[in-house]
Amino acid sequence: MECKTIDIEKLKVNNVNGDDDVVTPWTVESKNETGVDYDKLIQKFGCSKVDQVLLDRFEKLTGKPCHRFLRRGIFFAHRDMHLVLDYYEKGTPFYLYTGRGPSSEAMHVGHLIPFMFCQWLQEVFDVPLVIQMSDDEKAIWKNLTIEEAIKLSYENAKDIIACGFDMKKTFIFSNLEHIGNNPALYQNMIRIQRGVTFNQIKGIFGLGDNDSIGKIAYPSTQAAPAFSTSFPFIFKNAKVPCLIPAAIDQDPYFRMSRDVAPKLGYIKPSLISSSFFPALQGSKTKMSASNCNSAIFLTDTAKQIKNKVNKYAFSGGQPTVEEHRQIGGNCEVDISYQWLRFFLDDDERLKVIEKSYTSGELLTGELKKELIEVLQEIIGSHQKRREVITDEIVKQYMTPRDLGFQLNINK
Ligand code: TRP
Repeated sequence: MECKTIDIEKLKVNNVNGDDDVVTPWTVESKNETGVDYDKLIQKFGCSKVDQVLLDRFEKLTGKPCHRFLRRGIFFAHRDMHLVLDYYEKGTPFYLYTGRGPSSEAMHVGHLIPFMFCQWLQEVFDVPLVIQMSDDEKAIWKNLTIEEAIKLSYENAKDIIACGFDMKKTFIFSNLEHIGNNPALYQNMIRIQRGVTFNQIKGIFGLGDNDSIGKIAYPSTQAAPAFSTSFPFIFKNAKVPCLIPAAIDQDPYFRMSRDVAPKLGYIKPSLISSSFFPALQGSKTKMSASNCNSAIFLTDTAKQIKNKVNKYAFSGGQPTVEEHRQIGGNCEVDISYQWLRFFLDDDERLKVIEKSYTSGELLTGELKKELIEVLQEIIGSHQKRREVITDEIVKQYMTPRDLGFQLNINK
């Protein structure tokens, strides 16, 4: 899978208990057909579960129903989410921070998950968002030149912008281009580098003596935007709480950010983390951009979507219609059903589908048809929005500027 090869050193560090799931920023593997055991992961990482109490708070504070990713436990874990909401309740705004490592031009539907969620959070809380394009990370880890990596940042930024972010409240930056122009960000990176030892980095990320020094230093680059003083043009040097929505494999970076924050006199960033979007072939791994049959790309045509789902989507149904009618399908391992959990917003409809598939009334072909329609609509409308995003528009999102942030914080 994409840049996620197994490395014995990392396995040793991250898999000390010998359990089957391996989750690091580079490797996501499970031997289980239903995928990673997320409850175990919460325990292992020491984060908290997104529970009903938290969902109720979201709804109370925003006056809006929770996003389906919350209702369905797709964003399932958090760190200090209540703290950010406490601030917000008292009239102190927070900001959102997320990112993408642009490793290929082709983004797939799985890549949209954190951005769809951020777009919703930005809308319901009306807060600024910074998006890091970690082209430096990809230049270090992959066989990409600096120039290629920057180009991919711009290419991917178009797909990100097409998710509907408010230009007035969103700043997107390429690490390779922006850091040299933003001393405050670089200064925070150095503060972080000073506060974290090589031993800690080895422990958190499983890096070894033969890894490049770029890999050792990179975590500080991903950590620094979690501190508002990195963006004086947005936050005017105020210490503003930060919320990071990301997939759970990014947790190690932010565990490190949270460890180092008090040493620098900064607020620990809060996190809300998602489970992985499964590959078409099944939940054992995360979807990969390098295997074109394991993913649905944002550039796929309606016909390609239909063919891929019909041909490759792992089925939890029975081999014959007779058996299926008798025994029923298994939604837990069925990828068409699992993908509908991510993309079909209508709870009632999803429930009907689950019930009728489980009972055997709904056949695999019919279930796939449901998914195909939903995907064609999502990707079709994404393509329409992306088409009209010019280089000029991208440039505007990527220009450091005042985002109209109101500093009504008690500091
Ligand atoms: N490391 C992430 C990846 O490989 C990209 C990234 C950079 C990111 N900064 C982030 C993800 C902040 C979440 C939050 O995809």
